Amino acid sequence: MDYVQKQKLTDSPVNLYAPVNYLMELEGKRIRPIACLIVANIYTEDIQKALPVVYSIEMFHNFTLMHDDIMDNADMRRSKPSVHVKYDVNTAILSGDLMMIMSYKHILECCDDLILKNKLLKLFTNTAIEVCEGQQYDMDFENKKEVALSDYLLMIKLKTAVLLASTFKTGALIGGADDNDAIHFYDLGLNLGLAFQIQDDLLDTYGNQNTFGKKIGGDIIQNKKTYLYLKALELANDKEKNKLISLYNNNLLPEKEKIEKVKKIFKILDVKKHAEDLIEQLMEKAFDHYHALSVPEEKLKEVKNLMGYLLKRKI
Ligand code: IPE
Ligand code: IPE
Ligand code: MG
Ligand code: MG
Ligand code: MG
Repeated sequence: MDYVQKQKLTDSPVNLYAPVNYLMELEGKRIRPIACLIVANIYTEDIQKALPVVYSIEMFHNFTLMHDDIMDNADMRRSKPSVHVKYDVNTAILSGDLMMIMSYKHILECCDDLILKNKLLKLFTNTAIEVCEGQQYDMDFENKKEVALSDYLLMIKLKTAVLLASTFKTGALIGGADDNDAIHFYDLGLNLGLAFQIQDDLLDTYGNQNTFGKKIGGDIIQNKKTYLYLKALELANDKEKNKLISLYNNNLLPEKEKIEKVKKIFKILDVKKHAEDLIEQLMEKAFDHYHALSVPEEKLKEVKNLMGYLLKRKI
């Protein structure tokens, strides 16, 4: 917390820096910082040295949210107005850019170990590129007629899972894990990240706005090709399929009616259960990597707790 307070930006122009503080102080779950510190702590007592990198990852994540809310037309973030609503779109674009650059600055200043720093920078850079690719697929899919479930899985891998994967791996590298454990932590994070995004899709449709902090039904309104939608298309008969497609293409329908009608088809086809089953399968894969780690299980308690928390989360 001290470290976070020290990073608070007080520079001018205020309209560049204030939106950064605004979003960073709307505390999210902070699962990425927590994950990175927990993993580093398995291998080292000295987790202070992880703080700049951990901060960088959370800053990068918040940058993606700032821009994502513009792109998704989402007015609410963490139960408060999104940055582009509280300020304006141009402000959110530039403050978001700044956050992305600042996230590099924090890694550059992270430590004197040039070999480690080089590894972290490479991992971070590749991940950041992949996140942009995933985000673009997500946008492309809004208007694409045929999206296969495998396309969806690739998209969520890129937009969400790789950041969690590289966060776990970063913790392992900072802690001094061997290559084998670093790879298992990456794959653990990747499967967890896929499950996490499917859970996010589920909560977007079935969650409680007060706890989730985002507008429920936003994905349906934006015609997002979520797992729920794609699985429904796969399971639907011709009549249901045509209805679902025409509902998704109908941007004139009042929002509430569109959400209700789409949810009715989801219910008939029981797609929520299919999504939950897939989450479980992905968690099993994540646990395969967990069990393949070289460290004794008593050292992995916090990792297990975090995985359990993410599986059950409602926020
Ligand atoms: C939201 O991430 C974006 C996704 C990858 C689904 P989080 O659910 O981690 O958001 P915060 O940081 O807790 O608000
Ligand atoms: C999250 O996608 C991925 C990124 C922000 C890169 P979403 O669009 O589903 O995230 P939320 O639901 O707005 O947090
Ligand atoms: Mg999005
Ligand atoms: Mg979004
Ligand atoms: Mg979402």
